[in-house]
Amino acid sequence: MSLKSFLKPYRGMRDYLPKDLYERRVVEEAIRELFKLYCYEEVETPTIEYYELLAAKVGEETRKTMYVFKDLAGRTVALRPEGTAPIVRLVASKLKTAPKPLRLGYIWDFYRYDEPQRGRYRRFYQGGFELIGSSKPEADMEILSISIELMKKLRLEKFQIKLSDVGVLRGLMTSWGVDENVQNRVLSLVDKKNYVEAIKELEAANLDEASISKIAGLFKLKGSNYKSILAEAKSMVSLCEHSVRSLENLEVILDYMRDVYHEPEYILDLGFARGLEYYTGMIFEVFVEDLDIALIGGGRYDKLIELYGGEPTPATGCAAGIDRLVLAMRLNNVTPPLPPNKRVYLYILDGVPLSYGFKVSTELRANGIPVEVEVMGRSLSKGLSTASKKNCPYTLILGSKEAEAGLVTLKDMSTGLQETLTLREAFSRIKSNFNV
Ligand code: HAM
Repeated sequence: MSLKSFLKPYRGMRDYLPKDLYERRVVEEAIRELFKLYCYEEVETPTIEYYELLAAKVGEETRKTMYVFKDLAGRTVALRPEGTAPIVRLVASKLKTAPKPLRLGYIWDFYRYDEPQRGRYRRFYQGGFELIGSSKPEADMEILSISIELMKKLRLEKFQIKLSDVGVLRGLMTSWGVDENVQNRVLSLVDKKNYVEAIKELEAANLDEASISKIAGLFKLKGSNYKSILAEAKSMVSLCEHSVRSLENLEVILDYMRDVYHEPEYILDLGFARGLEYYTGMIFEVFVEDLDIALIGGGRYDKLIELYGGEPTPATGCAAGIDRLVLAMRLNNVTPPLPPNKRVYLYILDGVPLSYGFKVSTELRANGIPVEVEVMGRSLSKGLSTASKKNCPYTLILGSKEAEAGLVTLKDMSTGLQETLTLREAFSRIKSNFNV
């Protein structure tokens, strides 16, 4: 088969051309700025990890979409589908004795065999924030605050935050003796808004009618008037201490968040769950209008570090989908234009020692001035038209006579004016134009 059949990237994965990469970098820079402002230290782990480690608590949906293979020594490994498991591995091993809280950040690529569609890729980037060691609501609020600040930094001003606490549903199910595997299946169906099947799971687990109708009632509680929703929910779960505490925790978080950030719309949704299985407390997702896929997702995972062999350590975090944020920025027309890419065009005429040309270009670059050297053997007139197409303010022409005398010809591409100057004069002219 001809290699031409393989010129498109592998299904669901993207090539990032300069503009795409530039847009991604804009989001990455905003994330790195927040690492700095919120004191998160960046770390990196390998793209490939042992399958068992990555699969342990990601949930059935994510597990099914993992890229899993055997290496040449027969080890079962996988490409990471998300970043919390590798971070937790660090916390349970190399960072085991590190003082808490630990604030760790990452910008990595991830792999999921999802069905490709707008904003859903098989290779995508996330910027993650993990706050390890605190069980306090202020830790969850910090994670929410980071998410809000990121949206604001990217000028995505109108957005919604959907919240819940998995402890509400899990607390009830545990108090009724529902097996953890059944709970996981129910929450995975709730994540897909498949409430009918979720209820069927509970029926199959022989849960009584009154309990099932309570759960079905909770699924319907959703809206921006969180006080009345919480009051109604509390009356429904009053006999289950764990669920009541989860609702109270949500109330504290929402009260404070509303106090500091009025702008985003907070939607409390007790019929909301997240596909990942490791969550134990507050969970949330961030959305903008016109895009029904989450841009940022996160929540509390208090049991994961212990499960990975570390000390029992509460933790919370979130990850922002960089590709989706870029998409949202495009849809909202807030994508910053590519920078002008200003440079000097250097044309070395025949007969001039190339070393002279390179000395000049090296010195310009040492002064912070980008230089594009003509390397295609174009005629001078073609070279000049290339320079004007590329938006170069100057072309520097090196001829042999001038080279001997240490002179250069500087052509101002906007006026067409051409002058023979000493290198020093030409440099100072260029430097003032480039503000360096
Ligand atoms: P997640 O919700 O699976 O959470 O992913 C976080 C974000 O990554 C999503 O909100 C979305 O923007 C982006 N994302 C997910 N899948 C895709 C895809 N197929 N294509 C493009 N973007 C995608 C996590 O991964 C958790 N580790 C977040 C977390 C950190 N929870 C606690 N700490």
